[in-house]
Amino acid sequence: MSARRTLIAGNWKMNGLSADAKALATGLAEKMKAAGDVNFEMLVCPPAIQIPVVATAIAGSGIQLGGQDNHANASGAHTGDTSVAMLKDAGCGYAIVGHSERRTDHGETDAVVKDKAQAAHGAGLVAVICIGETEAERDAGKTLDVNGSQIAGSVPDGSTSANTVIAYEPVWAIGTGRTPTNDEVQEVHAFIRGELAKKVGDAEAAKTRILYGGSMNPGNSKDLLALADVDGGLIGGASLKVDDFWTVAQNA
Ligand code: PGA
Repeated sequence: MSARRTLIAGNWKMNGLSADAKALATGLAEKMKAAGDVNFEMLVCPPAIQIPVVATAIAGSGIQLGGQDNHANASGAHTGDTSVAMLKDAGCGYAIVGHSERRTDHGETDAVVKDKAQAAHGAGLVAVICIGETEAERDAGKTLDVNGSQIAGSVPDGSTSANTVIAYEPVWAIGTGRTPTNDEVQEVHAFIRGELAKKVGDAEAAKTRILYGGSMNPGNSKDLLALADVDGGLIGGASLKVDDFWTVAQNA
C-alpha cells in the first residue's frame, strides 16, 4: 500500500454555467458528507469565474478547490489572466498548470509552465503540472523522451511532494475515449517518477503523486487507479456528472 494518498481531480475545463457548477459541486459535497471517511482526496477545478459559487457549495465537505491555470506574475497588465493570489483568495489550494490545451491554445512552453508552477508554489498552492506526448510522438517511439524532457523543463526548483502533483496526460487520450494500455500507463508513470527523482531526489519523488489523465471514466478507472505508480486521476469529461465522478472516486 502506497503512502501516497489518492487524488481524484476534476478538470471541468470551459463547461457549464454557474447553475451547473453549483449543482455539480453541491451534488459532490452531499456525497462526500454522506460517505464520511474516504480513502481519497477530491479536488475540483472549475472555470475561474465559477470558483466562488463552487467554494460556497463545497464548504465543509472536505472537497478541495483549484484553478485551471494561473499567470506567472503576481499582478499587473495581463488582461484576462488570473493571479495565484486571486486563486488563493477565492479558496483554492491547487492550480493546474501546463495542461495540453493551454500548451496548444496559448502556446505555453515548458519554460512558461515552469514559471507558472513556481508562482503557484510561491503562493502556497499545489501545482498540478501536466505533461504528455502527442499521438505522433508515441507512434515515433518518443513517449519517454518527450515526457522526460517535459519533466526536466516544466518542474521548477523547489518542487516537493507537498507542493507538486504531476499529471501524465497523453494528448491523444484526452477526450477521445482512448487510453494507453495499463502496462503502458504504468511504464510511463514509473519513468516519470525516475525523472522526477533527478530533480527532487528519490525520497520526494517516492512521495509525489502522479495522476493519470485522458479518458479516465467509471469503466476504466478501477484498473488504472490500481497501477503501482498511478496515484489518482485528472478527469475531464467524466468529472462533469456527479455519479460518474463519484464512481471514479469510489474506484480509488
Ligand atoms: P478527459 O480530459 O477526461 O475528458 O479525457 C482529461 C483532461 O484533459 O484533464
